[in-house]
Amino acid sequence: MSDQDGYAHEPFPTDGPAVVTCGLPYANGDLHIGHLRTYVGGDVYSRALESLGQQTAFVSGSDMHGTPIAVQAIEEGVDPEAFALEWHEQYAETFPKFGVEFDNYGHTHEETNRELTYEIVERLESEGYVYEKEIKVAWDPVDDQPLPDRYVEGTCPYCGADARGDECDEGCGRHLEPGEIEDPVSTISGNPAEYRDRTHKFFRVSELADYLDGFLDRLEGTSNARNQPRQWLEDGLQDWCITRDLDWGFDYPDVSGASPEEGDAPPNAGDDLVLYVWVDAPIEYVASTKQYTERVGADEYDWEEVWKDDGEIVHVIGRDIIQHHTIFWPAMLEVAEYAEPRAVMASGFMTLGGKGFSTSRDRAVWAEEYLDEGFHPDLLRYYLATNGGFQQDVDFSWEKFRDRVNNELVGTVGNFLYRSLLFAQRNFEGTPDAEVSDDVEERIERAVDEFRAGVNDYSVRAIGEASVSLARFGNEYIQRNEPWNLVGEDDERAAQVIRDCVQIAKAVAVLFEPVAPGTSQRLWEQIDEEGSVHDVTTDEALEAPPREFGPPEELYEKIDEERVEELNAKLDARVAEATEGDADEPDENDETGDGSADADPDAADEGTDPELEPVESERVSFEEFQELDLRVGEITAADPIEDADKLVQLMVDIGVETRSIVAGLKQLHDVDDLPGTRVVVVANLERAELFGRESNGMVLAAGDEADLLTTHGDAALGERVR
Ligand code: 2FM
Ligand code: ZN
Repeated sequence: MSDQDGYAHEPFPTDGPAVVTCGLPYANGDLHIGHLRTYVGGDVYSRALESLGQQTAFVSGSDMHGTPIAVQAIEEGVDPEAFALEWHEQYAETFPKFGVEFDNYGHTHEETNRELTYEIVERLESEGYVYEKEIKVAWDPVDDQPLPDRYVEGTCPYCGADARGDECDEGCGRHLEPGEIEDPVSTISGNPAEYRDRTHKFFRVSELADYLDGFLDRLEGTSNARNQPRQWLEDGLQDWCITRDLDWGFDYPDVSGASPEEGDAPPNAGDDLVLYVWVDAPIEYVASTKQYTERVGADEYDWEEVWKDDGEIVHVIGRDIIQHHTIFWPAMLEVAEYAEPRAVMASGFMTLGGKGFSTSRDRAVWAEEYLDEGFHPDLLRYYLATNGGFQQDVDFSWEKFRDRVNNELVGTVGNFLYRSLLFAQRNFEGTPDAEVSDDVEERIERAVDEFRAGVNDYSVRAIGEASVSLARFGNEYIQRNEPWNLVGEDDERAAQVIRDCVQIAKAVAVLFEPVAPGTSQRLWEQIDEEGSVHDVTTDEALEAPPREFGPPEELYEKIDEERVEELNAKLDARVAEATEGDADEPDENDETGDGSADADPDAADEGTDPELEPVESERVSFEEFQELDLRVGEITAADPIEDADKLVQLMVDIGVETRSIVAGLKQLHDVDDLPGTRVVVVANLERAELFGRESNGMVLAAGDEADLLTTHGDAALGERVR
């Protein structure tokens, strides 16, 4: 038992090697900042472990298989392998631009992963943990094809929410086994599906309940990952279908005769089955670590020591895939005689301005877009890492981003560093010749302790806070001691105060590096330290800085109000452009998969019959309804906006005045026919500007075709609609 309360493992740093993994992103679409939360969290955590002197590898890779790739490749009419590889390459380039520096970033379709996957599956077979069973699978009777996972949508049998494929991503979050989804419909053709009998392979997870019970006692990490699986265990574990009728993925290995309960001539005997994507995906964690060893040599880092011996395995994931990492994956590892995970850190979701990210509606801040706007990656890293606890949901808005950058990075960290280093440089040409005072030494030691505790509590936020609160202390310290009043009066005391400040600055560089690697390196160089701050451990925080250094530069810049307005306007215009015609639909929160907002396309929506949403369960009061000022209006002019695909500028007479309103009607109505049409207008909606045109109100319309709401009697223009 460790001295950490309730933890079974020895605290970090340990003697053996650690591996930190991040959930593999499906290689199927652009990354946005919602996706980055898990990767930044994993990167901060692995850097922090290294700062404690822990031997660590940080690995991940792209998830190339499964229906998330196949469905989209079909949509685009391309080969799934080429399709996924292209995205993989893009991810491999994008992550480092945000300082997310994997020691190895592989992908699941590689040979190393195939070999390890086959080895592990064969082991499950030979240990008697796999059997065949006839089950019902969704089938498109018109196209005569099976509909695995995301090829099918329907209703969750547990909670009644709309569910797709193998997960109830908008309802109870459960993993759904083939055959479970109710009222299935093909996402490819829109045809209602039927269920047909097929024979599939099952992993006897149910037999591992006792092992998993003990495993959960030992498991560390965020409390959501430690507690949620308890319920699944209590409810009783189902065996897990590990094959799919799909022609993309690893073929099920040839294990002729190995299945203990093989039936006579199963309906699809001899058919090719592929492994379910969730079998080979986590095995990529091992494969990626192995590739790292192959590159650097086992003397430097031995993948077998960590995965087969007693290594410290830490999985960083989104909370939607807790079940895979705390039930299925440890069960596989156990049977295959691999080491078990030490910890699972599951992040909360991210929203944008209080609503879900939406790939289809362009309602996202794209990763590349963020960089193109000229913001330093460290600003976003700081925001993502410290905005809330790792398992809390985090909302991003440009306003909140500005506030945190201006108040904390500029106002606290940057301000302390710049003013103290500038003073040191001007008055002492660098670090004054004095000893660090006991109080300051203790304060730095406390920051190192907080940092270490953050690592052992799996708290990314606490890791980041340790240095920010040290900088806050530094600001108070310099303010309280007023060295500018001591120079010439009490030079010794002035030297003492500034010596303390330079030491605090150095400690901030060391402790802030996991969160802000780029700017910490600049700080490191400003105090004329050599090499990379990434390579030093927290012990260095109390080592004396170099004697001389040059004038410092400001590390962080303020973001002004106009910039925020400009960024919001860009986002609004893009969303308006992408959502015309579906203004009445609720914002989707298409977070799935790797636990971040999903880059999965919703092109699969197209071609299906429109589904009616259930009526909102939450009621509004009559007073609340009355707050909406709805008026009868008449369109007097309609002008298509040249640069926008869908937008039209309308002039609408609402009796009391004529309003300019921008609406998404261009491709849905004959614009020349619009003048003279009676409409209903939301007259007290916030004003907006779209493509340089004022939008002062909203014209109500129903459905995807933007069927305009009108009046049928003689209500005068400007009458209120109640
Ligand atoms: O759900 C997903 O997005 C998967 N691609 C995550 C895989 S993580 C792992 F275990 F491999
Ligand atoms: Zn459900």
